Amino acid sequence: MSPRPEIKDYIRSIPDFPHEGVMFRDVTTLFADPRGFRMAIDQLLHPYAGVRFDKVVGLEARGFILGGAVAHQLSAGFVPVRKKGKLPGRTIEQSYTLEYGEATVEVHDDAIKPGEKILLVDDLLATGGTAEAGIALIERLGGEVIGCAFIVDLPDLGGRKRLERLGMEVHALVAYEGL
Ligand code: PRP
Ligand code: MG
Repeated sequence: MSPRPEIKDYIRSIPDFPHEGVMFRDVTTLFADPRGFRMAIDQLLHPYAGVRFDKVVGLEARGFILGGAVAHQLSAGFVPVRKKGKLPGRTIEQSYTLEYGEATVEVHDDAIKPGEKILLVDDLLATGGTAEAGIALIERLGGEVIGCAFIVDLPDLGGRKRLERLGMEVHALVAYEGL
């Protein structure tokens, strides 16, 4: 590793996971490194200096790890968007399309109040389906998504363009071209 490591230096790439032909960008090695993790949180926050957020919404599962640290730093609340069936209170749900099949995510229906300013956080942006579902949940509760922040962008999968078409501002620390 170079004397001044960058975010990419901490991300491990694992071929053929979860299935053949996929290069998995593993951020657990970034999270596990004390300097790497701090650098990631600092860089995620960088564009939002001086911006006031009421809540950070983290997308299950790695978005929880980032979202908690980001929310603490912003003195904002944290709201989890979870896979269906995990939240105990009353929820609203949103389904989205995966490569194979469908998934559903939920949020507590009282977790966001109308007009609250929200930062959406996840580890990785691929097709954008997961983030779009999160945005839909936030907006259905009347929240205003001010920014969407990710560690990794896979631009060839179109997620950034998809979110930008929705009028979102997308911030990602690193991009990997190709699949
Ligand atoms: C991965 C990743 C993002 C999502 C991105 O999560 O952590 O949340 O996929 O893909 P998309 O942009 O095509 O929607 P995954 O669904 O594997 O679940 P996990 O985070 O709970 O492991
Ligand atoms: Mg995820």
